[in-house]
Amino acid sequence: MARPKVSIIGAGNVGATLGLLMAQTGLCDLLLYDIQEGMPQGKALDMAQACALWGVNISVAGTNSLQDTAGSAALVVTAGLARKPGMSREELLKANAQIVRDILQEAVPLSPRAFLIVVTNPVDAMTWLAWRLSNLPPQRVMGMGGVLDSARLRAFLSTELRLSPQDIECMVLGGHGEQMVPVKSLIRVKGVAVESFIPEDRLQEIMQRTRQGGAEIVSLLRTGSAFYAPAASVAQMLKAVLLDERRLLACSAYLQGQYGVEGLFAGVPALLGAHGVEEVLEVPLTKEELQAFRLSTERLRELIEQLKEVL
Ligand code: NAI
Ligand code: 2OP
Repeated sequence: MARPKVSIIGAGNVGATLGLLMAQTGLCDLLLYDIQEGMPQGKALDMAQACALWGVNISVAGTNSLQDTAGSAALVVTAGLARKPGMSREELLKANAQIVRDILQEAVPLSPRAFLIVVTNPVDAMTWLAWRLSNLPPQRVMGMGGVLDSARLRAFLSTELRLSPQDIECMVLGGHGEQMVPVKSLIRVKGVAVESFIPEDRLQEIMQRTRQGGAEIVSLLRTGSAFYAPAASVAQMLKAVLLDERRLLACSAYLQGQYGVEGLFAGVPALLGAHGVEEVLEVPLTKEELQAFRLSTERLRELIEQLKEVL
């Protein structure tokens, strides 16, 4: 059987790291696209040589032409500007919207059966834009944010409790922005509510650090934003779809009344499998958590209003 082709649009920090992680799995052929001449070709060649070390037999190519993405099973959009210190994800809105629009207008007709995974920030608004422009069914369009935010929360809890992250379950829902919602009532340590392990004030500090998780890395790096964990998060989503894993992951999915919200994309527990977002699960939230979720989606609605000018 032919391997599926995954095109990574934007071969910068996130895109290239994702390429390397996916190459290591041997699950798909890879195409790296970027506007910078020679750069995706060079990175693809380097990756193909890493594949030779691993004994992985896939095709890895680089290009400056979107025409080469034709026939992709998945298009991952990581092209755009990244945050600089002191800058919010939302400040990237207009510039990145134009980049995403131009790319998708050309790429989607060439891969009409593809899934779209959007990474470019502000991701929930960009995912909505990608869906509107692509005319694809919403099940085939998803954004990456919640997998990363949940991983950050899990990492902080794991360090705090000196316990393997494998034994910590958690989900961060809502928009991938400062109003994201680390859902306390869903944090479990081997099935036991987290309150048994950690005092409330310390837990609140950890949840706040999670909300600031992207900014913390931006201020340390000074140029650019996080990319290892973001790329690993996209790889987890891609694998879930390509292997029909039916995994429950926090991702930006289209809401049609779930949690009392409709008509936009926001981070929710989504069942990812061969058909894309096969279901958006409505998990029980406390009154305060539901309120915080809705508040974060109100902000997303404002961003979508601004995006209507770009359509
Ligand atoms: P980067 O600057 O390393 O890479 C972006 C790439 O996009 C560059 O190689 C650039 O040449 C390319 N690009 C720019 N305009 C283009 C165009 N018109 N066509 C094709 N390629 C173009 O940035 P990085 O760190 O890879 O981040 C990429 C995006 O992902 C940013 O918007 C960033 O904010 C976002 N991001 C989102 C995360 C999430 O959780 N959703 C996590 C991390 C990053
Ligand atoms: C992050 O959370 C910048 O959205 C990116 O690291």
